[in-house]
Amino acid sequence: MGIALAREGSLLVEVERGSIERGSCATLAVSREWHISQARQEAIEMARSIGMSPTLSLHVGTAVSELATNLVWHSTSGGAITLCAVKEDGNEGIEVVAEDDGPGIPNVERALQEGFSSKGSLGGGLPGVRRFMEEFDITSVLNQGTRVLARKWKRWP
Ligand SMILES: Nc1ncnc2c1ncn2[C@@H]1O[C@H](COP(=O)(O)OP(=O)(O)OP(=O)(O)O)[C@@H](O)[C@H]1O
Ligand SMILES: [Mg+2]
Repeated sequence: MGIALAREGSLLVEVERGSIERGSCATLAVSREWHISQARQEAIEMARSIGMSPTLSLHVGTAVSELATNLVWHSTSGGAITLCAVKEDGNEGIEVVAEDDGPGIPNVERALQEGFSSKGSLGGGLPGVRRFMEEFDITSVLNQGTRVLARKWKRWP
């Protein structure tokens, strides 16, 4: 189910802009705890490789770490994270897509609220990803899976 957020989310924006170029991409399988730090490190390195500042690169790394953690803890068989260097109108950024075939999220709006967790955790992961990344879109279908897309740009707006 696409949620109301999709209205301001990246897909709609992308239709309006229509010109995101993808450069090098890497897809990482994420199912074990040690994959989380691997994905985080890979994201930081890709962000640094396009000349993103150390601070912004860490934001990308933190977002990837939260998405990877969710794949490990909330999806039955893990999932995958795809990182791409992207370009648009002379601006450069990193695109992150986290996908799984897990149980899906029954109420996406609630899952995006600070402090909501179905597992008694802090419930700061998804709201954090939304804060750290300028573009954020989530689609989740019950019993089919979840897809989160997020982008961070070197210059914003
Ligand atoms: N990939 C996913 N598949 C199924 N449910 C998910 C997935 N990602 C998140 N969720 C649901 O959304 C809720 C909120 O996620 P969020 O990352 O914000 O918090 P958390 O993982 O519970 O806690 P924290 O990330 O702070 O340790 C989760 O508790 C879970 O119910
Ligand atoms: Mg989480």
